[in-house]
Amino acid sequence: MNATPDPNVPRHVAIVMDGNGRWARRRGQPRSFGHRAGQKAVREAVEFCLRRHVEALTLFAFSSENWRRPDDEVGALMELFLRALDREVEELHGNGVRVRFVGELAAFAEGIRTRMHAAMEKTRGNTALALNVCVNYGGRWDIVQAARRAALAVRNGELDAEALDEANIAPYFCLADSPPVDLLIRTGGERRISNFLLWQVAYAELYFTDTLWPDVDQAELERALEDYAGRERRFGLTGAQVARAS
Ligand code: FPP
Repeated sequence: MNATPDPNVPRHVAIVMDGNGRWARRRGQPRSFGHRAGQKAVREAVEFCLRRHVEALTLFAFSSENWRRPDDEVGALMELFLRALDREVEELHGNGVRVRFVGELAAFAEGIRTRMHAAMEKTRGNTALALNVCVNYGGRWDIVQAARRAALAVRNGELDAEALDEANIAPYFCLADSPPVDLLIRTGGERRISNFLLWQVAYAELYFTDTLWPDVDQAELERALEDYAGRERRFGLTGAQVARAS
């Protein structure tokens, strides 16, 4: 982790990795071929974040809605996750990456869940980069689970319902122990959030690129960071107030 973070480098980058299917179709291949190619781009993104000292990288790997895709595509994605868990975790661990799976994990088959928990356990002490992989995740689901847990805390007398505010509900959201998302990247040309992080992107800068996810490389991510460095982040203040404060 960085002692004095460079304000031009986002502390937390989140990515909607879109375009695997189209990338495969352009090559006359099945969608699963695109997802496999997408895994290479995941490695690029991790390497990039380690090199640029980004503290947290959060990836949208499988949304709550993705279960509705054709069975063979869901099966291929599960297979890919299994293989990634078997193959990549050792290297991530060696590079000081803390891996976390974020979402409703109970829906996954036991073999996958066991490996996910083992990967989280093995890497939990690492500090070079927090890699959050969102699986069976939805931003609205996250809001609901946070509300449910806060309501239970009220019932148990640990939280005062009248005193509920942004600060004391925040710890119930996923990623509460990562810095707020500074930069949200979406590849593949669409310009929407698609029920990814909602609470966590309140003040994030948004960066959209037409590049399909499997084509994303270090140069593309560098362009996103350059763009971010040129943004004026105001958090609701005026430009003059921000200038005075810095
Ligand atoms: C969206 O592209 C991508 C996904 C639903 C899956 C993302 C998964 C990976 C990149 C695989 C590797 C990930 C890990 C963490 C091992 P799409 O299929 O919606 O593409 P399209 O919009 O072109 O159809």
